[in-house]
Amino acid sequence: MSTEPHIICHSTDLVDGGLAQKVDAVHSGKRTNAFFIRYQGRVYGYVNSCPHMGAELDWESSVFTRAGDLLMCARHGATFLPDTGECTGGPCRSSRLTSLAVSEEERNGESVVLWWPQGQPLNRV
Ligand code: FES
Repeated sequence: MSTEPHIICHSTDLVDGGLAQKVDAVHSGKRTNAFFIRYQGRVYGYVNSCPHMGAELDWESSVFTRAGDLLMCARHGATFLPDTGECTGGPCRSSRLTSLAVSEEERNGESVVLWWPQGQPLNRV
């Protein structure tokens, strides 16, 4: 298995509290996707599967509440802390999103968002 990270996007593609970048992935043998966001200046990544019923959180890549301080599932409204994935309200309280290892680095003179999938049960398709 490769230890190289996946380049997700340019750092400037992720705006604080803005739209998520999504990539197709396989989680435990099933097709799904992962999403990547910026919150308070840092990047975060999660499996795009709500702990309530497994629905994708986003609506057309929108995952933040209007205030930009929480992530919200578009299906039934569960809310999550953007920096930990911990559920703060709704039908799956006390559960959490599955977080991914991400970083930002300079590659070929540009700052990019990287996903480091090794050791995680999710692989990019
Ligand atoms: S599937 Fe997300 S709150 Fe129900």
